[in-house]
Amino acid sequence: MSKTSLLFVASEVYPFAKTGGLADVAHSLPRALSGEHEVSVVMPLYKCIERERFGIVALEENFNLFMGGIDYPVELYGCTYEGIDYRFIYSPLLCDREFLYGSSECGYEDNDIRFGIFSYAVVELLRRHPYAIVHLNDWQSALIPLLIKQEGTLIAKTLYTIHNLAYQGNFDSSALYKLGISMEYFTMDGVEFHGMVSFMKAGIAYCDCVTTVSPTYAKEILKPEFGCGLDGFLAHHRSKLVGILNGIDTEHFSSVNDQVLVQSYSDISGKALNKKDFLKQSGLIGIKKPLFVFIGRFVSQKGLDLLIEALPKIASLDCNIAFLGEGEARYCEALNAIAKECSNIHLTFGYDESLSRRMYAAADFLLMPSVFEPCGLNQLIAMSYGAIPVVHLVGGLTDTVRNIEKYDSEKRNGFGIVFTKQTGRSFINAINRAMELYRDKRSYSEIANHNMKCDFSWKESAKHYLSLYKKLEG
Ligand code: GLC
Repeated sequence: MSKTSLLFVASEVYPFAKTGGLADVAHSLPRALSGEHEVSVVMPLYKCIERERFGIVALEENFNLFMGGIDYPVELYGCTYEGIDYRFIYSPLLCDREFLYGSSECGYEDNDIRFGIFSYAVVELLRRHPYAIVHLNDWQSALIPLLIKQEGTLIAKTLYTIHNLAYQGNFDSSALYKLGISMEYFTMDGVEFHGMVSFMKAGIAYCDCVTTVSPTYAKEILKPEFGCGLDGFLAHHRSKLVGILNGIDTEHFSSVNDQVLVQSYSDISGKALNKKDFLKQSGLIGIKKPLFVFIGRFVSQKGLDLLIEALPKIASLDCNIAFLGEGEARYCEALNAIAKECSNIHLTFGYDESLSRRMYAAADFLLMPSVFEPCGLNQLIAMSYGAIPVVHLVGGLTDTVRNIEKYDSEKRNGFGIVFTKQTGRSFINAINRAMELYRDKRSYSEIANHNMKCDFSWKESAKHYLSLYKKLEG
């Protein structure tokens, strides 16, 4: 049987460019699928991407895109990296920017045109190379099903994955003209959203199948609390909505093979040297104290308000706390102000992939008090590195972390400290339970070692995607 051809479309892919979990999924899922499918991955060729390092070269004929009365030049590039075929779209307006989408406070005003160019360029790629399945991700590529429909001759089936419903790509209605999209799509059933144009709605309305990144989030987004104004619309399309849990690349995130660690390890007894090294490097004192880490974006979704509210109390306990991340200025300032008063808090601002892995290896606990969490990858990485997650019971965290009170060594899932209410009291209570678990060395080690042996790879979830692709092919 011949392999199905699959084009995976994402606005960010690790290691080329990354702001969040989408980049990790766009790196690891196509690799997990590539045995069964001929997979190509396409993304914008942002200015920050090191062309020489990855051997990125011009691949085929460039073209001009005529959109809303303006000509945009588009160049097509490509490379093979770790056995995967990557395609890159270059256009000055799309790519020559300091950030991928804008600053952490505000997206670029012309993101409609930028990702319109990207979407049309992908359609042009489909015209030149007919792929059977196109897998789209998040609002930046959500226009593509509409453009395919508008084009009228392409046969590709589309699957659209929502990694985070909160980022919808909503723009002024004038975007329709600038994007060369017919007004007939500007209806409640189409892309119209409170008088604006919603890229997210285009993805949901016109693709053949919608997935999101955990079964629990797939249910949550049908309710007003998590639906970001689209719960009704999603409910209308619920027959094509499926939740498939994310995996991680277990070769990349492997405490046994990780080259950046001072010592690799296969059970938590091997973490001590990594902890010692990290404490020394960050000026934190007390190898015997539990080390809590927070790694991620400093945005409200990740529970920064709760974290900041509770931080002075947590810091008053006999523990160390280390942060790595970047995000909104108000959170950075608040963290700075608290850290100034507490010698057991260490902050690193920025994005540093290898430091993050050294922190997972050093940590005893990972803090993840997210307000909502489509899936979350950090808890999976933490459990693989033997750090026990402390999580708010929401979204994908519900599907991946079971409460330690229900610990059962026979179960194949991970365990952690779970709290059910997004309140300071509930969170502090969880921290106290973590402190208690840490004092009970035997239980702590047993659970952390159990987590390290769980399978958080793409194996099972890749099968789900494969069966969806098959269904779409008919
Ligand atoms: C987004 C979500 C996160 C998810 C990731 C990858 O970053 O916030 O929960 O794990 O996408 O799907």
